Amino acid sequence: MADEERVDIDVGLDEIDAALRRREKRRKDEETVKVVEEVFDYRTLLALHKLLSRGVISRLYGAVASGKEARIHLGVTPSGEYVAVKIFLVATAEFRRGRLKYILGDPRFRRVKRDIRSIVKAWCYKEYRNLSRAYSAGVTTPKPHAAYENILVMEFIDAGEPGVPAPTLKEVLPEEPEQLYQQLKEEIRKTYQAGLVHADLSEYNILYKSGKGVLIDWGSAVLTSHPHAHEFLLHDIRTVFRYFRKLGVDTEDPLEFYRQLAQEK
Ligand SMILES: Nc1ncnc2c1ncn2[C@@H]1O[C@H](COP(=O)(O)OP(=O)(O)OP(=O)(O)O)[C@@H](O)[C@H]1O
Ligand SMILES: [Mg+2]
Repeated sequence: MADEERVDIDVGLDEIDAALRRREKRRKDEETVKVVEEVFDYRTLLALHKLLSRGVISRLYGAVASGKEARIHLGVTPSGEYVAVKIFLVATAEFRRGRLKYILGDPRFRRVKRDIRSIVKAWCYKEYRNLSRAYSAGVTTPKPHAAYENILVMEFIDAGEPGVPAPTLKEVLPEEPEQLYQQLKEEIRKTYQAGLVHADLSEYNILYKSGKGVLIDWGSAVLTSHPHAHEFLLHDIRTVFRYFRKLGVDTEDPLEFYRQLAQEK
């Protein structure tokens, strides 16, 4: 070995150990970065960056649930509160499986991609506005934190264990169905009096926590002035009442309850 290539070292087990751990750590970081890049598209990464730098969240963890149009991640705020981070999927897996993958890959259709992005953003903001309106009216629903691009941040409804999402009514057998039925009628009433109709209300969009129903997924909600609002309202009532009838609750006539609500307003 030539002299200039000789390196003077004097190390023991500790130094070797530390060096190995540093290298190991670097490798792990790279893995994380790779995973992050695979999971989120570029624009979503930019949006996440914004939410992190604004201090809306301080950490983002893995997905706890995924629906047709969005993934729900667990996040934490700078003050240590857990939040649900709903990331609406923009032309990802779901879309790419279909014909759209050819369109999106074609530079002539760049506009289509932009348009899809703005539709998804509008959908996200619509859900945020509806959620905020319902929450302000005292409806039992997650507290809204923020919406940015295709990301909605709200209170995390847990199952009593931090970071574990509460089950939907589809997934549990409620302990006091009669009480829950009364509460949910009240939620439908409050929503309607706030000038809103949920329009996608069912056991799939109600979380069950401490014996109470928590309404989620406000993306489809409409103002009561919407031409189909009353049709949607009756549909919501029928769906919820049917759920409780199956549990043996002696529900009233959906049409009767609907008429009552419409009259009260
Ligand atoms: N605030 C929240 N706290 C805890 N878990 C939540 C929260 N919001 C949503 N989730 C979880 O994520 C799931 C999907 O949420 P949501 O219904 O809003 O999304 P979606 O994409 O519209 O779903 P789908 O298309 O299946 O209706 C819920 O069933 C629930 O498990
Ligand atoms: Mg849903």
